[in-house]
Amino acid sequence: MIVLAPSLLGADFKHLEQDIKAVEQAGAMYLHLDVMDGAFVPSISFGMPVIKALRSCTDMVFDVHMMVEEPARYVDAVRACGADLICVHAEACKHLDSTLRQIRAAGAKAGVALNPATPLSAVELVLPMVDMVLVMSVNPGFGGQQFIPYTVDKVKALRQKLDELGLNTDIQVDGGVTLTNAEQLLEAGANVIVAGTSVFKGDAGENVRKFLDVFDRYERGLE
Ligand code: DX5
Ligand code: ZN
Repeated sequence: MIVLAPSLLGADFKHLEQDIKAVEQAGAMYLHLDVMDGAFVPSISFGMPVIKALRSCTDMVFDVHMMVEEPARYVDAVRACGADLICVHAEACKHLDSTLRQIRAAGAKAGVALNPATPLSAVELVLPMVDMVLVMSVNPGFGGQQFIPYTVDKVKALRQKLDELGLNTDIQVDGGVTLTNAEQLLEAGANVIVAGTSVFKGDAGENVRKFLDVFDRYERGLE
């Protein structure tokens, strides 16, 4: 299944509830929540209290992208605030294996993220332990950056590796995704598409519908 995950970082923080309802009503299934600590990435975004407050606004899947050093410190708290899927960076975990186990033990789906320049080999051994791999297509830290084209080949190689292992794991792509480059990411093997700026700039509901149309057309082309 192909899923759109609007990144709340691209929304207007003056009226988050309104923006969330707009993307939910238009059919987006995940809400991508970017937690930044000012250490793993330069910026600081929002954390547990905001996630907890938003939980009552929507039934969307809360897909929490932890751009945080040693995220194991926060896994249980983030889960308690309503995260359904917790994604940690391989580069940020001293003990990636135990952090991924901790996420599943807390009852959430486990994701592992890779910065653009981090090779796939960094997560090869933990692929059977995760529900999703996030291939970053910008250097994490800010919305509105330019897509890095070499990450398309990384998605392809990852899908091939997962196929070889007989795993049907989700591949998420995050950063600089637009209506124009989304299709090549689907072709490469991604199935969870994050979009911040290209969803929330302008009419968010309309933009979600346009992304879902691209997904539909792609899926119909496969039949
Ligand atoms: C970047 C974040 C992204 C960001 C994407 O570090 O992880 O989720 O919000 O925003 P756009 O789609 O504008 O690149
Ligand atoms: Zn993100």
